[in-house]
Amino acid sequence: MTTPAVRCTGLRHAFGDTVAVDGVDLEIPAGQVFGLLGPNGAGKTTTIRMITTLLPAAAGAIEVFGLDAAHRKMRVRRLIGYVPQQLSADGSLSGRENVALFARLFDVPRRERADQVEIALGAVGLLDDADRTAATYSGGMIRRVELAQALVSAPRLLVLDEPTIGLDPVARTGVWERIEQVRAETGMTVLVTTHYMDEAEQYCEQVALMHRGRIRAQGSPAQLRAELGPESTLDDVFRAVTGDAFDDAGKGGMRDVRAARRTARRLG
Ligand SMILES: Nc1ncnc2c1ncn2[C@@H]1O[C@H](COP(=O)(O)OP(=O)(O)O)[C@@H](O)[C@H]1O
Ligand SMILES: [Mg+2]
Repeated sequence: MTTPAVRCTGLRHAFGDTVAVDGVDLEIPAGQVFGLLGPNGAGKTTTIRMITTLLPAAAGAIEVFGLDAAHRKMRVRRLIGYVPQQLSADGSLSGRENVALFARLFDVPRRERADQVEIALGAVGLLDDADRTAATYSGGMIRRVELAQALVSAPRLLVLDEPTIGLDPVARTGVWERIEQVRAETGMTVLVTTHYMDEAEQYCEQVALMHRGRIRAQGSPAQLRAELGPESTLDDVFRAVTGDAFDDAGKGGMRDVRAARRTARRLG
C-alpha cells in the first residue's frame, strides 16, 4: 500500500469552549485533488492549520507522507505549499517580486530561484502580467499569484483554503483549471477547502463533508450521490448527512431530502 499524503487520526482542537475540530479521521491518497467541504464554522481552516503544523493538535495524530507532523515539523513544512484563506500577496510588489519573495522565504536554492519563479508564474498563466504591481490585478489574478507563491518551492502537498471565495464564476474556473493542470503535470497532491459544492463536484476526486467539527461523509462525489439516490446533488448529500432529521431519525433524513426534492420539482 502506498503511503497516503495525509493521515489524521482522532484530531481535535478547541478554542476555549468552542470545539472547532472534534475527532477527525482523514486519509488523503497521494496524487489526488481532495476537497474538505463544509459551511462556515465547520472546522475546515482549523483542520488545515493543524495539518500544515501552524497550530498544534490538542489530541490525535497527523502524518504527512508518513512523517509525524508533531515531531517532524520542519520536514513536514518543507513538503507543503499553503495558500491561506486571507489574501497574502503584497500589492506594492509586482507579481514576479511576490513569487520571488516566497522563493527566498522557502529556501529555494539561489541558482534555481529565477527558473522556479518563471515556472510557477507560467503554471498559473501570469507570465505576461508578471511585471505589473499586484495592486493592479483582478481578484482572480491575485489568487493565481498566491498559487504561484505556494508552488515555487515545488511542494508535494498543495494546501488551498477557500481558493475561490469571493471570485466571479469566470475567475473561479480559471483558478480551478490551473490547480488541475498543475496536479496533472506534477502529480502533486492537492488539499482544498471550499463551501461551493458545485466546484467540489466538478474538480475533486474525493471529498470529506465536515460539519460542526466532524467528518460526516467521505468518498468520491459520484459515490456519495449514488448512495443518496439518482439525480441527487452533493448539496443534497450534505443536507442529508448534516440535517437534524438525519441525526434524529437515521436514514429518515435521506428520505426527507428525496421528498423535498420531489416537491421542489413539482413546484418548480
Ligand atoms: N482563533 C480562533 N479563536 C476562537 N475561535 C475560533 C478561532 N478560529 C476558529 N474559531 C472557531 O472554531 C470554529 C471552526 O472555525 P474554522 O476552522 O475557521 O471553520 P471553517 O474554516 O470551516 O469556516 C468556529 O466556531 C470558529 O468560530
Ligand atoms: Mg475557513
